[in-house]
Amino acid sequence: MQELNIVAKSSGDNLDSPRISTDSDELNLLGKVYIESYGCQMNFADSEVVTSILLDKGYGTTSNIHDADTILLNTCAIRDNAEQKIRHRLQSFKAIKSKKPKVVIGILGCMAERLKNQLLEEEKLVDLVAGPDAYRDLPNLLDQIENGQKAINVFLSKEETYGNIAPVRLHSNGVSAFVSIMRGCDNMCSFCVVPFTRGRERSRDLESILNECSDLFNKGYREITLLGQNVDSYRWLNPITNELVTFDKLIGYAAEINSDLRIRFSTSHPKDITNDVLHAMAKYPNICKNIHLPAQSGSNRILELMNRTYTREWYLERIDSIRSILGDRCGISHDIIAGFCSESDQDHQDTLNLLESVIFDFGYMFTYSERPGTPAAKKYKDDVQPDIKAKRLQEIIDLQRKHSGIRNKQMIGSIQRILVEGNSKKSSLHHYGKTDNYKVVVFEKGTEKIGSYVNVKITGCTTGTLLGELI
Ligand code: 5AD
Ligand code: SF4
Repeated sequence: MQELNIVAKSSGDNLDSPRISTDSDELNLLGKVYIESYGCQMNFADSEVVTSILLDKGYGTTSNIHDADTILLNTCAIRDNAEQKIRHRLQSFKAIKSKKPKVVIGILGCMAERLKNQLLEEEKLVDLVAGPDAYRDLPNLLDQIENGQKAINVFLSKEETYGNIAPVRLHSNGVSAFVSIMRGCDNMCSFCVVPFTRGRERSRDLESILNECSDLFNKGYREITLLGQNVDSYRWLNPITNELVTFDKLIGYAAEINSDLRIRFSTSHPKDITNDVLHAMAKYPNICKNIHLPAQSGSNRILELMNRTYTREWYLERIDSIRSILGDRCGISHDIIAGFCSESDQDHQDTLNLLESVIFDFGYMFTYSERPGTPAAKKYKDDVQPDIKAKRLQEIIDLQRKHSGIRNKQMIGSIQRILVEGNSKKSSLHHYGKTDNYKVVVFEKGTEKIGSYVNVKITGCTTGTLLGELI
């Protein structure tokens, strides 16, 4: 089939820079598809599923948007600016469509699910709208367009996990891959659109997860990140043995595939991360000691309005358990929202104070963006002024930067096992890789290969990166 391209663009979530996959050169029977992906890691993983489905049906793919018969945008709806970016991007397709009127333009993902028909009405350029659970239907939807109609499927499923679809790895460094273990979210945090765009929580069957992980290991991958909106609530009942597989068991099974396969996971919810999960992490050296634990706020009043279902004290107790079971070097990162409805200066101080109490390794920080239809949009006023939101966000970012520096400095002098992921972007004489606790380390190359493990002594750091020497 044809060359394949998915450009990944972050809307401020976990991935920052556009990534372009390499081209393949097989025959395409049904035309060439170009996909751009925005948003979170789940979206990037979904684009790999979409690619698999389309290649399987005989479509080709291209890295050149001007060469494409179909252009797909896999979109994010988490904040308004993510959607504005897509609207803007769509405008830039006008020129393509006027030169090539038959080109099909499709919107996939969370924005498709949120806006449904409205997208077809508002954006005349758009021919196809498909929500996150409708990707198996894409070939049919594309057929409908062939016949001169617009096409839409935004049905949310209670069962779809794409469990039997082998994702086509995109932008892969051949060392790290993402494996989706569950879809949807039942938590209903009041600010969040995800329960509406990704539907009910459902867990993928254990066997297909472990097969995918083993297959990746056999192909040379050495790091797998298990993905879900809320991984700790993974639950799957084995219909043959009647065993209830919970998340702590799942990570144990994944770790047992091979001790040279690193297992990571994201995202955890403070109410669900149990000591069983922490003990499983402690038991297996190849389950990486790093936890992404969104706090969202340090104020109990705001946490309640957010419907996070835990208190600041509960959150801090979870941090204590992480540190007592896994030790001080376990990496911990957070998400924080600045300027949620009615947030006072005191609430904001409580958030800064939470950061001071934990000293996180890293954080993703945002200003509150009201999402239509969410409980917060229905019940509360978005009444913190934009300049105050921005000022509070900056204070949170500045404090986090200081804390990241403190945590990085604590690593200096230690010896770390690093999985080598590639050449340093700045110097061909250097490799880079990650520590167990998810810090990037750059070091002068020796004879090691990409995908191997090396021991490195940490000798220094910049704001975001550790520097080291092979030992
Ligand atoms: N406004 C700002 N940030 C949000 N997030 C989710 N919804 C919103 C919103 N409406 C943030 C949360 C979540 C992360 C993925 O995005 O911090 O953990
Ligand atoms: Fe959104 Fe909360 Fe679910 Fe995360 S846990 S996806 S913030 S509703």
